[in-house]
Amino acid sequence: MILVKLGGSVITDKAQYQSVRLDVLTRLCREIVESGKDVVVVHGAGSFGHIMAHDHRLAEGHLDDGQIPALATVSRDVRQLNLMVMDAMLSVGLMPISLPPSACVLMKGGEIKDLGAERIRSYISLGASPVMFGDVALDESMGFSICSGDQIIESLAKEISPERVVFVSDVDGIMDRDPADPSSRVVEVVRPEDVEVMDFHARVKDVTGGIRKKLKSMLGLCTPERECLIINGTVPGRLLAALNGERVLGTRVELDTDE
Ligand code: IPE
Repeated sequence: MILVKLGGSVITDKAQYQSVRLDVLTRLCREIVESGKDVVVVHGAGSFGHIMAHDHRLAEGHLDDGQIPALATVSRDVRQLNLMVMDAMLSVGLMPISLPPSACVLMKGGEIKDLGAERIRSYISLGASPVMFGDVALDESMGFSICSGDQIIESLAKEISPERVVFVSDVDGIMDRDPADPSSRVVEVVRPEDVEVMDFHARVKDVTGGIRKKLKSMLGLCTPERECLIINGTVPGRLLAALNGERVLGTRVELDTDE
């Protein structure tokens, strides 16, 4: 089993409200089929979630009732994106079942308390492919909060023990400086001690913590047997290569092995 996060940055244009990259999305689904691997897909919200969630401070939980229309709109918008992901998956012969976190997940203090793992496992054993995504969700202490695709990946990895976790983004990997800078380079391997000292860059509004937080959560996912990669999904063939365990340009996050 391989866990794949289709980042909002690759399946949407994150800077433009509600714009999907349908061609990229469909090709990525085709690469999943072509690999022949068992893959569980989680996708981000991109411009269907971050812009409005940011403007209404939804990640901070229930501050005032003026946020509720935005809560409702974000839940509707991310479902619209999810329907497009479902269509793309169905069109290439995958068998997705949508599990929206707003309905299935319970959070506490901004962390996932209950992912609904039993339901996920049951769909997998039926031969279907549960699909979850960055969404709003009920939160026991904050009223509501944001449940990001990365948090779902972290929780899900504990439940289904994937052999590999692949984060598909729109850059070649973690860059050592702003990706817009022509002298920026891909950092091929990140280890725990690098996370605090490196200078990472984010380009657009992101309510779920940016790159450093992502790396920390990736480190939490790594085990000696489990690879964790970030690759560029806008380049055809990279996801396929990563799924097949081939060497591919990207960033590998790994634990220290020299103990
Ligand atoms: C964000 O999910 C969810 C909302 C803003 C509602 P993610 O953090 O997984 O989304 P991307 O991949 O960064 O777009």
